[in-house]
Amino acid sequence: MSRMLRKLVALVLFIAGFSSTVGSQTQSVDSEGHQWWQHAVFYEIYPRSFMDSNNDGIGDLNGISSKLDYLKSLGIDAIWITPCYPSPQVDFGYDVSDYENIDPMYGTLADFDRLQQQAKTHSIRIIMDFVMNHSSDQHPWFIDSRSSRTSAKRDWYMWHDGKGSAAPNNWVSTFGGSAWTMDFKTGQYYYHYFYPQQPDLNWRNPAVHDAMFDVTRWWYKRGVAGFRLDAVDTLFEDPELRDNPVLPGLNKYGDPNEQDLYNTKLPEVHAVLRDLRKVADENNAVLIGETWTKDVNELKQYYGEHSDELQMPMDFLFTKVDRLSPPEFRRQIAAVDSAGGWPVFVLSNHDIVRSYVRYGDGKNNQAIAKLMASLYLTLRGTPIMYYGEEIGMENNDPLRKEDVKDPIGRVGWPQEKGRDGERTPMQWNDSPNAGFTRGTPWLPVPLSYKTVNVASELKDPSSTLNVYRNLLALRHQNRALLDGDYVALNENDANVLSYLRRYKNEAVLVVLNMSSQPQEVSFDLAPQGFPAKSAHTLLTTMSGESKAGSLSHLSLEPFSVYIGAVSK
Ligand code: NOJ
Repeated sequence: MSRMLRKLVALVLFIAGFSSTVGSQTQSVDSEGHQWWQHAVFYEIYPRSFMDSNNDGIGDLNGISSKLDYLKSLGIDAIWITPCYPSPQVDFGYDVSDYENIDPMYGTLADFDRLQQQAKTHSIRIIMDFVMNHSSDQHPWFIDSRSSRTSAKRDWYMWHDGKGSAAPNNWVSTFGGSAWTMDFKTGQYYYHYFYPQQPDLNWRNPAVHDAMFDVTRWWYKRGVAGFRLDAVDTLFEDPELRDNPVLPGLNKYGDPNEQDLYNTKLPEVHAVLRDLRKVADENNAVLIGETWTKDVNELKQYYGEHSDELQMPMDFLFTKVDRLSPPEFRRQIAAVDSAGGWPVFVLSNHDIVRSYVRYGDGKNNQAIAKLMASLYLTLRGTPIMYYGEEIGMENNDPLRKEDVKDPIGRVGWPQEKGRDGERTPMQWNDSPNAGFTRGTPWLPVPLSYKTVNVASELKDPSSTLNVYRNLLALRHQNRALLDGDYVALNENDANVLSYLRRYKNEAVLVVLNMSSQPQEVSFDLAPQGFPAKSAHTLLTTMSGESKAGSLSHLSLEPFSVYIGAVSK
């Protein structure tokens, strides 16, 4: 090769190498154009409860670092850490008093950087929580804003005069009481969709927009791979502050029921999401939305008309299917699958009762946990797991009002017990406090930890944990599970949910017996292009494992799973 040519080749290689590492993360679009997050398995960590490295009873960043090997071997590609920024902790971190730091209870920025580095060596990306609708009332911005009507930051929040001696309008906080709190010093009300300690930022003010965008850039520079956007529905309010329509009855806090017509889902939010997306794209990052929607049409809007908003709006409609009903799951999956975007499935999170309890019948809960895992980890889309679901962690709800930590549980008791139950410490082993801490854990560990824990389940090949590990290993290597389309099968079956994930010449058949009775099923896959008579077993939770499943006659144990490969 001439020297000239060698130089040219070196230059081309250099440019190629550079363009694949622009931004904070390496680019990883596959030959078919899939982005890294489409093949990733996400895992939500509630940092207070994951692992406590300094034995103060509260989990921390060093605790997370110490568990990266575990996460890697489980099959996790990205962790979403719920807010670990400085905060008075009224809403356990969702009241941020400094967006660009770490709360000392969780560690330091140096600990964060170490976590980030170590996660990178494990090929695990970090997603931060972006609490963009509101700050803490202890954030310097709000302290300044409330200091006087002429403060330079007054307009950073939503200040309004009352109507006589009443609040500006009838809006109620989703956490109970009026959404307006009077500040006696300056004689005006400020608006808060959540607690009074969480004043809403004024997103119509360009200075707020710029300051919050700088926050995202600051974290991208530190290497984060994206954000989970908190409460995106509530960024904007009606400028005329019109009253919401009042509906019959009272809610669990004793407030009138309302239709949140004028303070949620205003169209202005989409322009902000488009702007955030531009910055995310510059950093090869992903935006995940906390998108509560009433139907798939609403969900669709969060992808953006030109797919230029959220890559991953979470499909919470899936969590609303609250019983093991094949017809309802079929309807829901088909709707989101055809919505045009990449589906994002969750079973539960730090605000939702754990799936183990929601779907469990009290007798077959572990079998049902495996069934639900096999469902959402084999669908087309990206799953976001919630820590502990992989071992079948249950809710541990407080029994007495005086034990409740989550403020909504105290306001709404007994109808609303708060969210403590789904936030209890991760169960690592059978030593005291499940190995989470040697101190006193901030929330009590359920008694089941003696058997439901990582160490014990690792030893049992048929444990829920090992089913998760096997499922995740399978979905990482199987093209049909990664990229195949979704084809519903046997759509009239009321007990067994079955579908095919079809990719070119291969396909994976997923069969889920959602009933407490044995079932017999048969499949004719010829119309789908697969005339095969049997499937090669990839994973089953049935006792007598066989290498091949007959497609004309498949016997299923109660609540069992069969997953098999078929080819042309
Ligand atoms: C949604 C979060 O998931 C929840 O935990 C929090 O209380 C509210 N947003 C307010 O930030």
